[in-house]
Amino acid sequence: MAQKTIKLPIMIDVSPRSRISDAYRTLRTNIELYDEPDNLKVISVISSYPGEGKTTTAVNLAVAFAQANQKVLIIDAAFRNPSLQDIFLVHNQTGLSEILSARDEIEDPVQSTHIPNLFVLTAGLAPDNPSDLLSNHTFSSIINTYREVYNKIIIDTSPMFAMSESMLVAAKSDGVLLVIEHGRVKAEVLANLKTTFDRLNIQIVSVAINKMNKKYIS
Ligand SMILES: Nc1ncnc2c1ncn2[C@@H]1O[C@H](COP(=O)(O)OP(=O)(O)OP(=O)(O)O)[C@@H](O)[C@H]1O
Ligand SMILES: [Mg+2]
Repeated sequence: MAQKTIKLPIMIDVSPRSRISDAYRTLRTNIELYDEPDNLKVISVISSYPGEGKTTTAVNLAVAFAQANQKVLIIDAAFRNPSLQDIFLVHNQTGLSEILSARDEIEDPVQSTHIPNLFVLTAGLAPDNPSDLLSNHTFSSIINTYREVYNKIIIDTSPMFAMSESMLVAAKSDGVLLVIEHGRVKAEVLANLKTTFDRLNIQIVSVAINKMNKKYIS
């Protein structure tokens, strides 16, 4: 596959005064107001279906926190459709899946990005068994290690629908940001999701209704 050589634009980075960028800053503020920063360090970004806007939201939110002088790590746990390497134009030879499957300690694969204060852990090479990898104890322990280094950790995930691994990521986070594509997700699906979260004691810290006017250009 041809290597991409152009960074995909990140709205809040390239157009910080736009209304969309304002919306991402409001999302950051909502999260900041939800709880003390230390109680809400690790946030996973989830949605029911593919393509609702998890990655777009996670990246812009991560940049919004970085612009507020927070040291931020964005982690790509969307093993089925990893994309942070293309957005930040970094390599994806080693990433989360290599840390999770390593028998011995490996060098930290976190990379810096072109955004000050923002660091990225890409997904790495596609594992055969994403759920097994994310349910093992190493995932909790690396998240805890990164908690000591970063002020905020934003985790991009696979869609919830029919995949168990994003639930595992959500369960290890301090809270989740639920992305809902406007007009697409039935109330019944959301009610089921909420019931499951309540049962697992997973907090929804904010909800982003996305693609209200579908004018965002990638
Ligand atoms: N607010 C928006 N308005 C219009 N288009 C958007 C918006 N947010 C995201 N998109 C576009 O929708 C598409 C899917 O977005 P994105 O990749 O963020 O979704 P995703 O939930 O991460 O998908 P996947 O489940 O495949 O990982 C992209 O082309 C993106 O540019
Ligand atoms: Mg995505």
